[in-house]
Amino acid sequence: MSGDDILDVRDLKVSFAVRRAGRKYRVQAVDGVSLALAEGEVLGIVGESGCGKTTVGRAIVGLVQANGGSIRFKGVDAMGAGRAGRRAMHLNVRMVFQDPYASLNPRRTIGDSVAEAGDINGIFRDRAERSAMVAETLAAVGLNPSFAARYPYELSGGQRQRAGIARAILPTPSIVIADEPVSALDVSVQAQVLNLMMDLREQLRLSMLFISHDLGVIGQISDRVVVMYMGRIVERGRTRTVLDHPLHPYTRSLIAAIPLPDPSKRILGAIETSEPPSLFKRPSGCAYAARCPLASERCLIDVPELRSTGTDERALACHNV
Ligand SMILES: Nc1ncnc2c1ncn2[C@@H]1O[C@H](COP(=O)(O)OP(=O)(O)O)[C@@H](O)[C@H]1O
Ligand SMILES: [Mg+2]
Repeated sequence: MSGDDILDVRDLKVSFAVRRAGRKYRVQAVDGVSLALAEGEVLGIVGESGCGKTTVGRAIVGLVQANGGSIRFKGVDAMGAGRAGRRAMHLNVRMVFQDPYASLNPRRTIGDSVAEAGDINGIFRDRAERSAMVAETLAAVGLNPSFAARYPYELSGGQRQRAGIARAILPTPSIVIADEPVSALDVSVQAQVLNLMMDLREQLRLSMLFISHDLGVIGQISDRVVVMYMGRIVERGRTRTVLDHPLHPYTRSLIAAIPLPDPSKRILGAIETSEPPSLFKRPSGCAYAARCPLASERCLIDVPELRSTGTDERALACHNV
C-alpha cells in the first residue's frame, strides 16, 4: 500500500441475499479483503470455486455493491465517487470474463462490441476513426481486422476470448480485471491467450488483477498473489515465494492440486478429499479448520488475522504455521 498503488482496496465486504428452503439468508461472500495493485503489476487472486474471487472483481468495477470497506482508484474514492468519477473508473478499469459470451452480445458484430465503451463515451471523432481504432485493436489481439464484421458464433473459443480482450482495451485502460480468462479454453489455446495477455501488459503498460482457481496459471502471469478462502485472504506474497514455499495449509493443498504431467506422482490435497465449505454455516473460528491437518482447538474458536510475516511482503492468516 505505497504511494504508487493505482488501486487500493481495503476491508472490502460484499454480502448477498439468498433464499434457501423458503427462508431468506444473507451470506457474506467477501468478508474483509484488502489488496493493492501497483502500476504495471499483475496481482493474482487464487482460490477454489465459490471463495469470492469474482465478487471481488465485480465489486471493484461496480457491478455489485459492497457493504463495507473502501476502493480507491488513483487515490480517489471510487465507491463514493459521483458520476464523473464512476465514468473515469469505468473507462480505466475493465473486465475480461471467463466466458466471452458474457461480454460479446450475440446479436452484435465483433466490431460493435469492441467499440462499445468508446461509443458510450464518445471517444471517436467519426466513423472512419472508429473503424480504424477497432481494426488496430483487433490486430493488437491477433485477429484479422475483417473479424469486425463477424458475429460471436462464427468465432472459435480462442478467437472469441481475443475479441473479449479487444473489447476491454479500447480505449486503453489502466487496469484489466481478468476473471478466469483462460479457464474455458482448450489447453492448447490457453497458452496462446496467456501469452497475448502478457504481451499486452508490456505494450500497453497495464496493471492487472488476474483471477483464477488454477495456481499453475497464476504462477505463469502474476507478480504477487493473494490466496482466498471463504471470502478472506489466507496468504499473500510474491508469487514465486508463495509457490516455492507455501506457508498456509490451504495454499499447500492448492499446490498439491496443480496437475502434474505424471498423475501417479500426484498427492491429493485436502481440497480434493473433503467437503467444500458452505457460506450458510460459516464456522466460528478459522474457516479452513475443518479440512486442515494442522487444526488445533484454538482454530475452532479464534479467527486468525492476516498478519505480515515480516519478510518479502508476505502475510499469513494461520495460528499454527
Ligand atoms: N448474485 C449473487 N447472488 C447470491 N449469491 C451470490 C451471487 N454472486 C455470488 N454469490 C455467492 O457468493 C459466493 C462467492 O461467489 P464468487 O465470487 O462467484 O466465487 P468465485 O469467483 O471464487 O468462484 C458463492 O457462494 C456464490 O454462490
Ligand atoms: Mg468466479
